[in-house]
Amino acid sequence: DLWLILWIAVGYLLGSIPFGLVSARIFGLGDVRKIGSGNIGATNVLRTGHKPAAALTLVLDAAKGAVAVLLARHFAGEDAVQLAALAAFFGHCFPVWLGFRGGKGVATFLGIWLALAPMVGIACCATWLLAAALSRISSVGALAAAALSPLWALLFGAQTAVLLSFALLALILWRHWQNIQRLRDGTEPRIGARRK
Ligand code: G3P
Repeated sequence: DLWLILWIAVGYLLGSIPFGLVSARIFGLGDVRKIGSGNIGATNVLRTGHKPAAALTLVLDAAKGAVAVLLARHFAGEDAVQLAALAAFFGHCFPVWLGFRGGKGVATFLGIWLALAPMVGIACCATWLLAAALSRISSVGALAAAALSPLWALLFGAQTAVLLSFALLALILWRHWQNIQRLRDGTEPRIGARRK
């Protein structure tokens, strides 16, 4: 119905706000799409060497996913939550404002799970942190967290969201295709390595 569609649209619009571009611009760092991986996410903002801008990107890109979930839950009920979450994720990856060329969705994915099923969100954050700490590579953290998210959803009482976890996993794999190729070639840069 229309009410449901409205909250899906709100999810998409929230997700489509490119906080990486915004915070890099606020801190006078220029267009992050022209450096490093060309991505608009926190990892690439960090390649400018500006940690606060990267932290702000991570927090706000996660928050928009969480807010989309919480708004849908409050105003449209549990049935709308997963659709709004997916819409926010799509908004981040394919924002209309940037000609549908957006980010890879990892921070938004974490925010979605923290709001939708907090234990799953915490497990995904822990997986990201552990894999990223061991590898020193952001995309390895992302791929590990996404790959294990269906298992965390099953284990931590979010069985009704297992399908969503597989959908997000598929989208994250797709969006990380170039990262996966660089990992295979051994050319994926480590976290914080600056690139101009
Ligand atoms: O969150 C995106 C991360 O997994 C990879 O980012 O800039 O290294 O492609 P990047």
